Amino acid sequence: MQITIKQTGTEDQTYQAEEGKTILENLAAQGLRLDAPCGGRGKCGKCIVKADGALEPPDAAEQKLIDEFPGKRLSCTAKVAGDVTVTLEDQVLFSSIKAMGWSAPYEINPPLQEIELEILDRQDPTGCLDVRNITTHNIEALNEIATVDATYSRGRALVWLDELLHAWPVSADNDYSTGPLAAAFDLGTTGLALAVIDLKEKKVIALETALNPQTAKGGDVISRITEADYGKQNLLDLQSMALEGLASMVEPAVGLEVGRKISAAVISGNSTMQHLLAAVNPKGLAQAPYRPVFTHMLDISHLAERLNISPRAKVLMAPMISSYVGGDIVSGILAVQLKSRPGTVVFIDVGTNGEIVISRGGKLVATSCAAGPALEGMNILCGARAQTGAVDTFTMEEDLSFKYTTIGGAPAMGICGSALIDITAFLIKHKIINKAGRMRDPAGKEILKDNRFWLTDKVFLDQLDVRQVQLAKGAIAAAMEMLMERLGMTLKDIDEIVIAGSFGYHLRAESLKTIKLIPPDFEGPVTFVGNSSLAGSARLLLNRDSPAEALSYTREVEVIELGFDPKFQQVFVNHLAFWSPLPSGAPVFAGHPDLPDFRSFRSSEVPELPAHSAAPRGAALRPPRAPAAGVFLCLACPAPRRRACGESRWLNPD
Ligand code: FES
Repeated sequence: MQITIKQTGTEDQTYQAEEGKTILENLAAQGLRLDAPCGGRGKCGKCIVKADGALEPPDAAEQKLIDEFPGKRLSCTAKVAGDVTVTLEDQVLFSSIKAMGWSAPYEINPPLQEIELEILDRQDPTGCLDVRNITTHNIEALNEIATVDATYSRGRALVWLDELLHAWPVSADNDYSTGPLAAAFDLGTTGLALAVIDLKEKKVIALETALNPQTAKGGDVISRITEADYGKQNLLDLQSMALEGLASMVEPAVGLEVGRKISAAVISGNSTMQHLLAAVNPKGLAQAPYRPVFTHMLDISHLAERLNISPRAKVLMAPMISSYVGGDIVSGILAVQLKSRPGTVVFIDVGTNGEIVISRGGKLVATSCAAGPALEGMNILCGARAQTGAVDTFTMEEDLSFKYTTIGGAPAMGICGSALIDITAFLIKHKIINKAGRMRDPAGKEILKDNRFWLTDKVFLDQLDVRQVQLAKGAIAAAMEMLMERLGMTLKDIDEIVIAGSFGYHLRAESLKTIKLIPPDFEGPVTFVGNSSLAGSARLLLNRDSPAEALSYTREVEVIELGFDPKFQQVFVNHLAFWSPLPSGAPVFAGHPDLPDFRSFRSSEVPELPAHSAAPRGAALRPPRAPAAGVFLCLACPAPRRRACGESRWLNPD
């Protein structure tokens, strides 16, 4: 079921909604909030909205406040019972900084449980663990349960399924009196996210985000793999950076003391991030046949203490599918229940790596591409992560006046990924960016200053930033087109496009269509699910059937490696423009009359990325082919310098 928000001056937004939750709660789950002065207690009437569709009938208290306003409901008390449309008239919709991704409903029966240890029968010689059907390889836990049983007192224990994690006598003060806590982590190439979950109350009690410290070693997975391969210490340094980044979120989320009560964690990241976190050399991911060392749910409980959680916590990483379709995508597929969504669904996870999974007739096919971190607000001159003050939405009117919002309503300090897409889209619409991506003042108007579009006297969009958007969206759109072509699909076959990503809530479908990240002619629903990697991690902690389901995807999902397809380069170039791509097979290298003049990129416009970081993955990993005369093969690293760039020796050992 869905909730659609209508607001004058902006495009309608449709989100997944959960039955039985109020409009306010459903919006909050999407990282959006309305002003609710009484704290959502149904007392002030300030959260009143025009609401149509399937809502539970108002109770007497709500009825009293809405009596004089036919067609309106209190968003803090009106519960969703089906598809709902909410029209905002006077209210302002704020976006909050941190948001949990959306997950399809599921039963909550966590594998982590606090159990009673009954006093043992003094005559029964059965082993302390055997009598309780639990087990462990942890000697400390064995000694703890021995102590509890030796005193013939009652005790309590934390177990992960049948594995004993920790035991203590009930008479002593213990750290678990508030019930077990769990931590869901998203380990992105650029961004990190944490959700702390109270398993007793069955709710998320804190959310936090951070920048992955590994970005200091390069913005993309290839540079991290290269760095890790320089030596064991480099690999350990990258592991430490990831651990420190994840651990850094615990204190601001719940404080260190509560953090020590977190007794289970699941971490979802792409395959490179998960290899680095475990300090397993990821070199094989970047060399034919592009093989991960492991794909199972790796137990890294020995690293628990370095995450600022209980040193006895169970820590697992989500299972992975292949070298470039990792645990974050498995978690995403799990969270949105991609396989069971009706019809043909295209799932796109927009991040530093773009992953696309198509669900069709119960079959899942996936691919990935390197998009670069631009759409996460990185490598942009005024780029920002989704943090207080980051511009997150932007609109422009016909008279070229514009409005923007910032996260938390703070003064604008930078542009995050969603606004970058919006700004680019509106500047294209008003012909300030042409179809080839060049910024120019429209005829008779002076909008740009120093060839930059200024939102404030400090925050601007530069030509370089537009090029970054082109590289990112070009890679994702090309990967989607090729995957569809491999499956013999056309646009008409798609019933739904699901967009995931840490910024996913604040995106507009129209902007994605204008920049041609998704096909502009697609008329079906575009659903934003937010950080599905984080939502999937949480699901793995809250539902004991989910780990088996996640593991089944590692066997079921067919992966198509586009990097092996020489056509990818051609399709990628096709998709760099801001117009509809040429039909597949068009003679792009032969000088199609409609081709954007990318050969005319000025050297000052070539984005300063780490070598190859935004190039299509296949192009980066395979030995370079001889470039066709005058044609860019690697826009992150201009063709003439390709073999001379820092990476080329490693990329082409010959
Ligand atoms: S927030 Fe006060 S009535 Fe809803």
